[in-house]
Amino acid sequence: MAPLVIAIDGPAAAGKGTLARRLAAVLDLAHLDTGQLYRAVAALLLQAGGDPADAAAAAAVAEALRPADLARPDLRGEAVSAAASEVSAHPGVRAALLDFQRRFAATPPEGRSGAVLDGRDIGTVVCPEAPVKLFVTASPEARARRRHEELLGRGEESIYAHVLTEMQARDARDRDRAVAPLRPATDAVILDTTALDADAAFTAALELVAARTGRVPPGKEKPGRHPGRPSETTGRPATDNVKGPTE
Ligand code: C5P
Repeated sequence: MAPLVIAIDGPAAAGKGTLARRLAAVLDLAHLDTGQLYRAVAALLLQAGGDPADAAAAAAVAEALRPADLARPDLRGEAVSAAASEVSAHPGVRAALLDFQRRFAATPPEGRSGAVLDGRDIGTVVCPEAPVKLFVTASPEARARRRHEELLGRGEESIYAHVLTEMQARDARDRDRAVAPLRPATDAVILDTTALDADAAFTAALELVAARTGRVPPGKEKPGRHPGRPSETTGRPATDNVKGPTE
């Protein structure tokens, strides 16, 4: 049986990482935060004194990336975030990272039966065949507030207005780039988390997975339910914040 692939895309700090981790844990799937790949390229490039605008240098770093680089402790800072969005616009960088992501989805590690990948272009470019695609979004203000609180929580200095400006610049770069721009796949379900907490987003996502694939968390199976058949009760996630595929 082909591995189940759940594609989760969306802008920074919309809640897709938390959602992806929870879905992977409860459905026993592998998880890949693809932003870490671009962050690792950015961090290595900055460490070597390179310029994120230098397409050839960034592509060379991406081609030499090793799995251990994804565990670097310095990937979440604002300088790396900004540089990640710059290096991710270079076609050579994206091409170098594509194979790794597709292999992860096709042959998830540790023999898992599927994978959750989160990023910007999973549903549109990396895994366009994924049966479950979510586009998780929220207002820029809500996302900046979350990122600001996350930074403060880690003991880092942060100014909300600065975080908002940076986030809007990063959104614009991700959305306007020529290669794999940030946009929902036409068959993605839009999940707006502006007024939705993590639990409600998780419930809506689980309902979508059940509706599209028949997969439910272990112990939540309904008696007599046909495995692999969409749930009859969850044809549509039960929240106003969830919109069907865009057209
Ligand atoms: O998701 P995260 O904020 O960690 O991603 C960092 C940057 O990596 C994003 O701003 C985006 O430019 C880039 N990225 C991408 N494609 C992905 C994942 C991340 O271009 N699939």
